[in-house]
Amino acid sequence: MKEVLHQVYSTEEVDKVISGIAEQINRDYEGKELHLICILRGSVFFCVDLAKKLTMPVSMDFMAASSYGNEVTSSGQLSITKDLDDEIEGKHCLIIEDIIDSGNTLKKVKELLAARNPESLKICTLLDKPSRREVEVKVDYTGFEIPDKFVVGYGLDYAQKYRNLPYLAEVEFVEN
Ligand code: IMP
Ligand code: MG
Repeated sequence: MKEVLHQVYSTEEVDKVISGIAEQINRDYEGKELHLICILRGSVFFCVDLAKKLTMPVSMDFMAASSYGNEVTSSGQLSITKDLDDEIEGKHCLIIEDIIDSGNTLKKVKELLAARNPESLKICTLLDKPSRREVEVKVDYTGFEIPDKFVVGYGLDYAQKYRNLPYLAEVEFVEN
């Protein structure tokens, strides 16, 4: 099998959607400090571009959590391979995710972080596939709602490839 890519959102469309999310966050957290929790690796591009559009004092930390191997289906098993460096107690925290699929990853990450007593804890995702949800997760900020398609680019990978694409593309798997 090989992958054929079809662009679904251009660089400009992604940028516009991120500006919209940033406007909401700037309103909601006005007068507060915000701690961004970037879920590695897929969310890095989104987190960095979003952070540059925020107007309040922002700090950032990184956590690696994954319920995927190199396959396109979720195992539902969460492993934390890199924990946060800083305490989050008393901070307004916003989890930054690339895409929510079954919701298993985010539900477990949110429970884990909520137990550390942040002042507040919300979720922001660039992409959401609501039709794939297996567990309920409250998503506070969403960029694009998409159908059940596998997408890459702008941080998202297939078998660690394509993260560097500056746009979002759907993957079609075809016979060689
Ligand atoms: P969940 O636990 O099923 O919600 O899985 C979410 C994680 O699966 C994301 O953070 C991605 O790493 C990965 N994932 C889910 N759908 C896609 C996709 O369409 N492209 C690339 N990665 C995906
Ligand atoms: Mg991910």
